[in-house]
Amino acid sequence: TSSADQIPVITLDPTGADHHEEAARLRAAGPVVPVLLPGNVPAWTITRHDLLLDVLNSPDVSKDWRTWTCVRNGVIPDDWSLTGMLKVTNMVTADGAAHQRLRRPVTRYLTARRLQEMRPRITTLIGDVVDTLSTYAGNAEIVDLRQHFAYPIPMQVICELVGVPEADRPVLRQLVESIFRSTTPPHEVIQTQADIYRVLGQIVQLRQEQPGPDLASDLIAIQRHDNAALTDDELVGTLWLMIAAGHETTVSLLLNAIRALLTHPGQLITVQERAHTDPHRTWTAVVEETLRVDAPIGNFMARYPRTDITIAGVTIPAGDAILAPYSLLGRDPDHFGHDAHLFDISRPNVRHLAFGGGPHACPGAGLARMEAALALSALFTRFPAMQLAVPDSTLTPIASLFSNSVQALPVILNP
Ligand code: HEM
Repeated sequence: TSSADQIPVITLDPTGADHHEEAARLRAAGPVVPVLLPGNVPAWTITRHDLLLDVLNSPDVSKDWRTWTCVRNGVIPDDWSLTGMLKVTNMVTADGAAHQRLRRPVTRYLTARRLQEMRPRITTLIGDVVDTLSTYAGNAEIVDLRQHFAYPIPMQVICELVGVPEADRPVLRQLVESIFRSTTPPHEVIQTQADIYRVLGQIVQLRQEQPGPDLASDLIAIQRHDNAALTDDELVGTLWLMIAAGHETTVSLLLNAIRALLTHPGQLITVQERAHTDPHRTWTAVVEETLRVDAPIGNFMARYPRTDITIAGVTIPAGDAILAPYSLLGRDPDHFGHDAHLFDISRPNVRHLAFGGGPHACPGAGLARMEAALALSALFTRFPAMQLAVPDSTLTPIASLFSNSVQALPVILNP
């Protein structure tokens, strides 16, 4: 066992200014790297795909943030900028039987059959968004695809699935953006936490009085039937998780895929040719390659070893925090080859970790994949000659350790 002292400590940039460049530095530092989060809070990251997969599957690693030494000894204040991603009450931070209890009602709801039932509605919704896109173009014919395409599709899909009334959606959008941002000022962190409980509490009350064909009503029914199934806090925490996890990530996937295609015109031509004969396979390949090379989740909070664990010769003490750096791992040359950093839709079947792995693997992956393939296909069919309106190098990343995408994606729809 070697000492971690020889490995350089890398301070993670909460503004995400040069996300993939930072990832390359982390990878060069070694397979297991000590990092600093905002406020100089120490954590670890694992820069090899296969080693992280072992951690995701390890029974010796907890997801309960209350076991983190920095939380227990008070290093982390309530208004820490990453609180919204840390202190959550739902399946993300539960282990073992409690995890299964919280996760099962959601996976039972998101069956393959339900996805197929949702498909026509999602297709209609995408059609409406694509139909109205050009109405947002000003004199210069420029439209921001984050605002007018990538955001409205997943947000409407997840809000209909969960049972969120239209009137509550704008405030939820702001709350989700607040928790994903890593530069949130302390007063906003506290306000956001209070607002989440207030707004979600209202939605729960509404669905208690007026149940509908949605997840909120389903979870309320489960709770009524079996008191032990879900506490009130867990109900709110689960609905919040579904809204937050269910849209921000899919927004990023759509933006990262559009950006990749518009900056690789040769591959876009191939996609357009192949899409005539085999649209499903073609758009699936675009979605999977985007998930690998530019994963929507940069880093994910966190896992805490129950006992000291040694990974690649480095010992991580019990109670330390280990991040899962999903966007970094998609470019791991040890796993994907020397050209791992390149977008290539012809790459044979890639098994990436963009949806995580082990017991906490994303239960929304099927929905996200379906939505993204349908939305990208509709967009590029309607606007086949679309172009970026500004140089790719001038696009501004989201100020986040978690969200790997851009703040705006201005394009010219019909050059
Ligand atoms: C968990 C990624 C879309 C719901 C996760 C995890 C990842 C992920 C990496 C595991 C995190 C970890 O424990 O390390 C993504 C990506 C998406 C996406 C990249 C879109 C492209 C969705 C959607 C939903 C959803 C659409 C809801 C319908 C969840 C939930 C969990 C989760 C509930 C927690 C699972 C657990 O802890 O057991 N997601 N996700 N996600 N995701 Fe997604």
